[in-house]
Amino acid sequence: MYKVAAIGGDGIGPEIVAEGKKVLEAAGERYRFDIDWTDFDIGADRYLATKKLLTEDDLAELKKFKAIYFGAIGDPRVPPGILEKGILLALRFSFDQYVNLRPIRLLEGVETPLANKTPKDIDFVVVRENTEDFYVGIGSRFKKHQKTELAVVRDLYNVKFGLDIETDAEELAYQIGVVTREGSRRVQTYAFDLATKRRKKLTSVDKANVLSDVYGLWRDVFTETAKKYPEVVTDFNFVDAVTMWFVKNPEWFDVVVTPNMFGDIITDLGAMIQGGLGLAPGGNINPKGTSMFEPIHGSAPKYKGMDVANPIATVWAGSLLLDHLGEHAAAAAVVSAIERSIKDGMVTKDLGGTVGTKKAGSYIADCVRRG
Ligand code: IPM
Ligand code: MN
Repeated sequence: MYKVAAIGGDGIGPEIVAEGKKVLEAAGERYRFDIDWTDFDIGADRYLATKKLLTEDDLAELKKFKAIYFGAIGDPRVPPGILEKGILLALRFSFDQYVNLRPIRLLEGVETPLANKTPKDIDFVVVRENTEDFYVGIGSRFKKHQKTELAVVRDLYNVKFGLDIETDAEELAYQIGVVTREGSRRVQTYAFDLATKRRKKLTSVDKANVLSDVYGLWRDVFTETAKKYPEVVTDFNFVDAVTMWFVKNPEWFDVVVTPNMFGDIITDLGAMIQGGLGLAPGGNINPKGTSMFEPIHGSAPKYKGMDVANPIATVWAGSLLLDHLGEHAAAAAVVSAIERSIKDGMVTKDLGGTVGTKKAGSYIADCVRRG
């Protein structure tokens, strides 16, 4: 019996998580395990009613679970950023989910916008660092004449531009990206271990040519970590260049490891080359704590309750969840069942099908059950 927490969240979130649960339960029937779900009402409705985002009580309860199945967050009634930072990023940071695992794989029968590329060309994994970089939320905005306690900002501004921030600058904002040796080491080690189990190639993506302090440290740690994995072929790419190579030569990549913000950006590009956001899953992993699995798309509020959302990204995220629980055969069966549903055309409109969210989900569940 696995105890799993579920947070449907906002917009289409609850609908797609419902389909994901169906499929995971079907996998349980076939592979003989039970899942005991506990639902949490974290999201926009609760926030609007109570002003609560992610509470200490939520964290204390969620901490008891090894896995959280997460739908999506974001609602037009709430200014952008509040729910994303207050719930999604808060969960990732609170549970120290330092690995954001994002497979970029073109499934059989899915169309990619890349000419002449097939499923054998597009099959890599992005390991995005998930707790550091520009996501740490340290920053500020200053208007003219405002005092700043931060001597370092005052001094840098003065040295660089010859201006006194407190008297001359019209307005200034800064945001700090933090990279630590330990933070880099642990996520890179995860990526090296993953590469060892795959095609033994690992690409580090950064921008060490310009942001040379933070990503210089990242690179140094990568070079050191690589010494422990002589069987893995390594490579460095700058983030701007890697966006070209993802499009031109996706077959070059096996595992890619990258700091948080670049990981955010390049995985949307990755999602598109694997057929669109409706297909892209992600796992937020703390190997020794509470991990969380989610589609990488948002809550698409305008499609809420319309039975049109594509459940595949969420179902696939469910497969990552099963993998995390050690149910590897069941996890693989879920992905095969997704492929079957695509071949049979039992998919939503975005993939050229005619069925709704529920039918698409039920079909995948049936395929899992039938094997
Ligand atoms: C993602 C999303 C989030 C991120 C947002 C919603 C905070 O874009 O999961 O990729 O930036 O990480
Ligand atoms: Mn993103």
